[in-house]
Amino acid sequence: MTEFAIKVLLVEDNPGDVRLLLEILQETPPDQFTVTQVDHLEKAINLLTAESFDVILLDLTLPDSMGLDTFLKLYRRASAIPIVVLTGLDDETLTLRAMQEGAQDYLVKGKVTGDLVSRSLRYAIERQRAEHKIREQAALLDITTDAISVRDLQHNIVFWNQGAERVFGWRAEEAIGQNAVQLLYRKSELQLKEAINAVMEQGKWFGELNKITKSGQEVIVESRWALVRDDAKRPKSILTVDTDITEKKQLEAQFFRAQRLESIGTLASGIAHDLNNILTPILAAAQLLPLKLKNLDDRSQLLLQLLETNAKRGADLVKQVLSFTRGVEGKRMVLQTRHLIAEIEKILQETFPKSVTIYSNIAKDLWTVSGDSTQLHQVLMNLCVNARDAMLSGGLLTLSAQNQWLNETDVRMNFEARVGPYIVISVADTGMGIPTANLERIFEPFFTTKDLGKGTGLGLSTVVGIVKSHGGFVTVTSQEGTGTEFKVFCLR
Ligand SMILES: Nc1ncnc2c1ncn2[C@@H]1O[C@H](COP(=O)(O)OP(=O)(O)O)[C@@H](O)[C@H]1O
Ligand SMILES: [Mg+2]
Repeated sequence: MTEFAIKVLLVEDNPGDVRLLLEILQETPPDQFTVTQVDHLEKAINLLTAESFDVILLDLTLPDSMGLDTFLKLYRRASAIPIVVLTGLDDETLTLRAMQEGAQDYLVKGKVTGDLVSRSLRYAIERQRAEHKIREQAALLDITTDAISVRDLQHNIVFWNQGAERVFGWRAEEAIGQNAVQLLYRKSELQLKEAINAVMEQGKWFGELNKITKSGQEVIVESRWALVRDDAKRPKSILTVDTDITEKKQLEAQFFRAQRLESIGTLASGIAHDLNNILTPILAAAQLLPLKLKNLDDRSQLLLQLLETNAKRGADLVKQVLSFTRGVEGKRMVLQTRHLIAEIEKILQETFPKSVTIYSNIAKDLWTVSGDSTQLHQVLMNLCVNARDAMLSGGLLTLSAQNQWLNETDVRMNFEARVGPYIVISVADTGMGIPTANLERIFEPFFTTKDLGKGTGLGLSTVVGIVKSHGGFVTVTSQEGTGTEFKVFCLR
């Protein structure tokens, strides 16, 4: 017996068959197998708890078990060990069933030769190992969060891992057989053509793609494609590995936007300071001149007044610009936001056109925040005036406020947000909405879509400046033609 001998468990009760098989198994080449033989199924099962074997040779007709049952009982105990079944000449159906249930091979009694047994047993062991490896690899494919799929050259999906289910929402049984182009791409045909050309020519492709999930949402993926060839080296299918980078992209865009805002702010604050220095003497002169020139005629007095009011307006504007760049220092007090919002609502009821219906919904137990009431007042007024301007033919303005604890998941998508208690004040309108292209820019100082003289483009940048200095942030969602909602998050 060599140490590489294959350990066979022979489960067979017929003494004649046992003798024959043992003889065959000892045949050429010698020492290939070491055989342990038992004559009952129960003995085999007991033995398996104590000892391990490389392969089992199983007669399906035993004193304590008959037919397919024999196989199933043993298989349940020893599914990791390959089983070769021994059947009679006329047992074709039974043999087939056993194979379907997981038997690795079969031998027909009376037709067994040394070669046949040797080959069958080795083949069974090999096959079991290969299957085990494939199962292991398949499990690995499912552990990764990447979406892995394989499609044939007509783009019919033939493989779809759990990562793909997670990223795209389609279950494997829904995706397999579908056309990948129709399932996952809606408008990025150009990108797709480029990728297909590259993979066919160079065997691989790498790049970013926009794909669509089952629920119709867009996902941005970092995609790696490889051409798979058959044994004859002919292109056979395309393997795709997609990493979801949607969140990363969004955060990146947010960050760039914030950076641009900051640089515009710095620029604006420089100009504002200069303007301030220019306006101060003009204002002083406009106020001093009437005192010096007591006998001025009415018309000249009016002109000086005009000078003064406009210099003051200029100074106010400058102050506003400075207030969002510098992050206004104001007096901080503990504020009952409920009262503040109620006050705003009252002003709106009195001053807004009757075509705008005002509705408010404020949580009773709203937390207090530490802040400057004049500034927060200004924040809400700016948002409400914008809402009014967006509803020229009337609509609904909803003011609401509630407490919200932001958790890890909430803050992941917003780099200004922190985990913790916030009060959220929302100003929602049913107005014209904001085109997606403008959403990027509305918080920039001087960005306005309003006619000259109607808008300064400073409202929202002031809002952001003030809210930021209160440790908060502002979000906006909008749909053209439907309405807009601004949410102000203030740290408790
Ligand atoms: N509720 C809203 N509905 C539609 N558009 C809005 C709304 N709020 C702001 N906007 C857009 O954002 C721009 C900038 O707003 P803002 O900074 O307040 O400046 P202004 O109101 O002076 O134009 C507006 O010109 C408008 O295009
Ligand atoms: Mg405005």
